[in-house]
Amino acid sequence: MVEVVSKSAEDTRKLGKAIGEKLHGGEVVVLIGELGTGKTTMIKGICEGLGVSDPVESPTFTLINEYRGKVPVYHVDCYREERLEEWIELGISEYLYSDSVVLIEWGERLEEILPDDKITIHLFHDFDQEGVRYIQIDGIELSKNELRFLEE
Ligand SMILES: Nc1ncnc2c1ncn2[C@@H]1O[C@H](COP(=O)(O)OP(=O)(O)OP(=O)(O)O)[C@@H](O)[C@H]1O
Ligand SMILES: [Mg+2]
Repeated sequence: MVEVVSKSAEDTRKLGKAIGEKLHGGEVVVLIGELGTGKTTMIKGICEGLGVSDPVESPTFTLINEYRGKVPVYHVDCYREERLEEWIELGISEYLYSDSVVLIEWGERLEEILPDDKITIHLFHDFDQEGVRYIQIDGIELSKNELRFLEE
C-alpha cells in the first residue's frame, strides 16, 4: 500500500497523473472517499496520465463517460445509488473485463461485481487542515521517484 499526504488539489491531480502513466489498459480503479475528498480531481490526473485530451467531468446525465486516451477510458460515478441495477443491466461488467481503463467514483457500491484484481484508492479529509487529504493506494506500486513532485 502507498500512503500519501496531498496538500493541494494540484498534488492530487499529479498523483493521479503518475498513476495514469502506469496504466496500460485492463485496469479497474475504484475511488472511495467522502464528498469533496478529490475523487474527480484524481480522475482528471489519471486521465491526463493516460493521454486523454477530452474534458473530464463526472457523468451526471449519462451513466458512463467515455474518453479517448492511449486506451479507451470509462468514468463511472456511483453516487446515485438508485442507478446501480441499471448499470449492471447495461452490462457494466463488459467494461470491467476489457482492455480499457475503468475509473469508478464511490466504487464500493459496485463491490459485488468488481474484479478482485483492481486498484483501490481511499481518500480522506483532514478536518483540521483545509486542503489536506490522506490518500491510500492499493493494487499498484509507486516509487519514491514517481512521487517526487510531492516534495517540490
Ligand atoms: N488536497 C486536495 N486534493 C483534492 N482536492 C482538494 C484538495 N484540497 C482542496 N481540494 C478541493 O476539494 C474539491 C475536490 O472536489 P472533487 O470534485 O475532486 O471531489 P470528489 O471526491 O469527486 O467529490 P464528489 O463526492 O462530490 O464527487 C475541489 O474543489 C478541490 O479544489
Ligand atoms: Mg466526484
